[in-house]
Amino acid sequence: MSGNLTEPLSDTVPDPAAPATVVALDRVSVAYQGGEAALDQVTFALSPGSFTFVTGGSGAGKTTLLNVIGLALPISSGQLRVLGHDPKSLPRTERAALRRRIGMVFQDFRLLDHLSVLENVALPLRMDGVGDGKRRAQASELLEWVGLGDRLNSLPPTLSGGQKQRVAIARAVIGRPQLLLADEPTGSIDDEIGMRVIRLFQALHHEGTTVVIATHNHHLVRSLQYPTLHLAHGHVHSIGADNSGGLGN
Ligand SMILES: Nc1ncnc2c1ncn2[C@@H]1O[C@H](COP(=O)(O)OP(=O)(O)OP(=O)(O)O)[C@@H](O)[C@H]1O
Ligand SMILES: [Mg+2]
Repeated sequence: MSGNLTEPLSDTVPDPAAPATVVALDRVSVAYQGGEAALDQVTFALSPGSFTFVTGGSGAGKTTLLNVIGLALPISSGQLRVLGHDPKSLPRTERAALRRRIGMVFQDFRLLDHLSVLENVALPLRMDGVGDGKRRAQASELLEWVGLGDRLNSLPPTLSGGQKQRVAIARAVIGRPQLLLADEPTGSIDDEIGMRVIRLFQALHHEGTTVVIATHNHHLVRSLQYPTLHLAHGHVHSIGADNSGGLGN
């Protein structure tokens, strides 16, 4: 991939070697200890380069679904394929490598409190062996874009919720992941920064990244008109407004 995420969009070049589906769930269920099924026999697939919203009320299973796709939570039953692999069948190191191809904005942020804002954001590049100067430059540029250029050396516990969320977003996109999963990414930030964040996601999408955003923000869902997967009580209730051919089956 070329170019810069914070610059205007350029033309997409499709990857002919990409798998037919990026994410495929076949009757996937997840039950937390002692609870009812948070996901119950969920089946759907996402095609490469799609942009999908996941909606549904509080407790519907959005976070559970994103964490399952992001390999942060094991499934109880069913079949899961992510970026062409069955995660269960992979040895630990390969699973970790697969996870590094996924950018994840957790609803609870999951920043490393002992690392500075800049170091948190640069971490995926460090894991990929990118040199110190380059990763500092890229991380600070992204942090400027999300309005945190003055907090590069702060530690996460000294930040507000919205500031932490922006750090988590910058960390998720910096490695230009093949799959980006964002759980309520605009939940704690104001509209202006929220639009900048959405532009970042759209820049990645334009470069070929498959994007999945869980959100309560109906205005966002309506204004962007991407396909929507609606969850209710751990079931896929509906799949709607498919204007880009994103959802497969
Ligand atoms: N760690 C956990 N242990 C037990 N039950 C859990 C846990 N996390 C979630 N649940 C339950 O699983 C169901 C789905 O929760 P989930 O967090 O996926 O919902 P959500 O759609 O993301 O909700 P919200 O919009 O509030 O973020 C809920 O009934 C919730 O109580
Ligand atoms: Mg949630």
